[in-house]
Amino acid sequence: MHTFKELVDSFETFFTRKHFPPAPATLYEPGEYFLSRGGKRIRPVMCLMGNELFDAIQPDSWAVATAIELFHNFTLIHDDIMDAAPLRRGMETVHVKYGESTALLAGDVMMIRAYEQLSSVQTQYLPRILQLFNKTAREVCEGQQLDMDFEKAPSVPLNDYIHMITLKTSVLLAASLQTGAVLGGASEGNCQHMYEFGKNLGIAFQVQDDYLDAFGDPEKFGKEVGGDIRQNKKTFLLLHALETASPEQRKQLQELMQENLPDKVQQVLQLFRACNVDAWATKLKDQYLQTALHHLDAIAVVSARKKPLRDLAEFLIHREY
Ligand code: IPE
Ligand code: IPE
Ligand code: MG
Ligand code: MG
Ligand code: MG
Repeated sequence: MHTFKELVDSFETFFTRKHFPPAPATLYEPGEYFLSRGGKRIRPVMCLMGNELFDAIQPDSWAVATAIELFHNFTLIHDDIMDAAPLRRGMETVHVKYGESTALLAGDVMMIRAYEQLSSVQTQYLPRILQLFNKTAREVCEGQQLDMDFEKAPSVPLNDYIHMITLKTSVLLAASLQTGAVLGGASEGNCQHMYEFGKNLGIAFQVQDDYLDAFGDPEKFGKEVGGDIRQNKKTFLLLHALETASPEQRKQLQELMQENLPDKVQQVLQLFRACNVDAWATKLKDQYLQTALHHLDAIAVVSARKKPLRDLAEFLIHREY
């Protein structure tokens, strides 16, 4: 068994190499640029952990983990275009540095690379892994479209927000764990609990992401703080503020969303604070964390083997970047 940190380090070493041919550099260099500044690598590590809960880590898990990380990075390149984001991982985003058209293609070719990795999986497992990967990829697109649709809505119900973040974010975390479990020979029931653990944890993870987008330390966060506010994203912060604000504050919030004043972010943050969004964030994360942990408990494996997954859950909920 490996610890969470050991798996992050091993994956980092394994993944740090060129992923594309040299030419045309105008296409491939942007992809290498983006991959070179590693993220947290949580999804590939979740695949390895999902495997190791049931068995020694299989060679196929490294290929699937690589595919998942490439797919994730592809979604980020395109997400930054959609969100007009200038910064990621403390660096200029691909579309800002190389232009939108190149960023689209650099993302496309990274997704194709992900499928090339997947296709090396043993034929015994391939149909099941591909089916799960494809379903997940489609759901991420659905979630990303809903995220943009919601920008134009004055408000959305909390349940719709949870549905949207489940699709855009948490299904990929869930699938990462489940592919690992499949490769580890887990039973159908254990695979299901693994998926539900990842899905609920993923919801709490995106809640934390939305919190950090408003209140994170720009030095640690690596992304532009306040980007979601600028884009009128319907995060739980805004939904909670709209719901609990006084009529006067609600009117202010609605006006701020309609105009794009230079101090919009600062003003919205002040209203968020006045509406106690902090306490609400903690409550929401805890609710989903508890559900996640119930599913982890239900997996029929000795408890000691689950330690890396518990550590991962702890990290994801309290992370500052
Ligand atoms: C960012 O994911 C996109 C979200 C779903 C919030 P991460 O926070 O895992 O990004 P990196 O890979 O560590 O940069
Ligand atoms: C991104 O959600 C989800 C995907 C990339 C699929 P966000 O737009 O909140 O992610 P960040 O904050 O830009 O990383
Ligand atoms: Mg974004
Ligand atoms: Mg987005
Ligand atoms: Mg975000």
